[in-house]
Amino acid sequence: MKKLLLFTPGPVNVAKNVKAAICREDICHREVEFDNLLESIENKLLRLYEIKTISNYRAVVITGSGTAANETMLSSIVGDKNILILSNGEFGERLYKMSKIHNKNTFLLDFSWGKTLNLEKIEAYLQAHDIDIVAMVHHETSSGMLNPLEKVGALSKENGAMLIVDCVSSTGAEVIDMEKCGISFCSSSSSKAVCSYPGLSFVVGRIDEFEKLKDMPVKSTYLNLYNFYNFIKEYSQTPNTPAVPLFFALEQTLNNILDKGVANHHDSLRARAQFLRQGMLKLGLKFLIDEKDMCCVLTTVKVPFHINVTSFRQRLREKSIIIYEGKGCFKNKVFQVGNIGELSSDNLQFFLKSLEEVLRSFDPINVGNIRSINASYPVLIPSNDEVLDKAQDTA
Ligand SMILES: Cc1ncc(COP(=O)(O)O)c(C=O)c1O
Repeated sequence: MKKLLLFTPGPVNVAKNVKAAICREDICHREVEFDNLLESIENKLLRLYEIKTISNYRAVVITGSGTAANETMLSSIVGDKNILILSNGEFGERLYKMSKIHNKNTFLLDFSWGKTLNLEKIEAYLQAHDIDIVAMVHHETSSGMLNPLEKVGALSKENGAMLIVDCVSSTGAEVIDMEKCGISFCSSSSSKAVCSYPGLSFVVGRIDEFEKLKDMPVKSTYLNLYNFYNFIKEYSQTPNTPAVPLFFALEQTLNNILDKGVANHHDSLRARAQFLRQGMLKLGLKFLIDEKDMCCVLTTVKVPFHINVTSFRQRLREKSIIIYEGKGCFKNKVFQVGNIGELSSDNLQFFLKSLEEVLRSFDPINVGNIRSINASYPVLIPSNDEVLDKAQDTA
């Protein structure tokens, strides 16, 4: 099968050493090798979040995609309390639907897809209602909007509510200061800006909040947050059989990020996003939301009126480039270009050149050009494979 370049919000092209990691020797998840592996992953996850007082936090790893981590939080934390979901897109809506399955006292503040969260409305709602828990999405992937964690955190705290956050697509890309923002629990996944394979997710939370879950009603056998916490605390293990090879890959990708430095990893994604955005603007494309509101992993682009998005995507696919189509109310209106995972500088330039060719194939006249890529473009930071390949060449 030929190699595809995944310019999606996840899954991603993984680094060579992450690919190699899943083929390590077989181990048993009830033996010391796995205990050590999980301990190492947990420690690295807490470092990924740059938590200052590490002794106040723990991280549990779940075999299951990002939704598993979200459902673990929502089925384990709420009990009979009142939870308010803030939504401005598909993933906020999913939190709401999921919470309704588990929690009868689920409320929704809906701000429409692609719109910013209105802080005044949130404040008024919290003042007028007895809300125990606020849940939100950090990066609303359906539009690419980065929601304001610190401000919602402050409002939640002022009104005596706990904050839990879906950080599935922002972890590893943006600063998530759990301490400063007053986040009790947040969820994420292995397959987005953490740059590993899909199939693992995790919940990071405050120890005092994990302890409070002990006597909560159990609503799920598998997705039971206290159970995950208790197992890692008592045995450095998971309650059920974990996807061990994916844990090897997760540890390797965390090593890659921590070796590079978390801030450098964020910066490299931001430089890639800026590079692609400048190129796409040069081609005459327009974005769905303001650049200042975007997360650095993804750009949501308006489909030019004369283009059929499915055949547009197909023509890029013929050049081995995979992008996303918009969903829900954005279907046929936008496409999404991710910039996470193992993408080299050449891959990014190839993407822009291919995009230009495909746009011209629809409309030869009204397309700009990216030939003048020059020093004014952000300097791209080499990817893991580029660094390793260069080291081998010079060895
Ligand atoms: C913000 C957000 N939350 C949750 C999910 C669901 O994650 P998964 O598809 O890994 O279950 C996604 C997936 O794209 C996402 O972007």
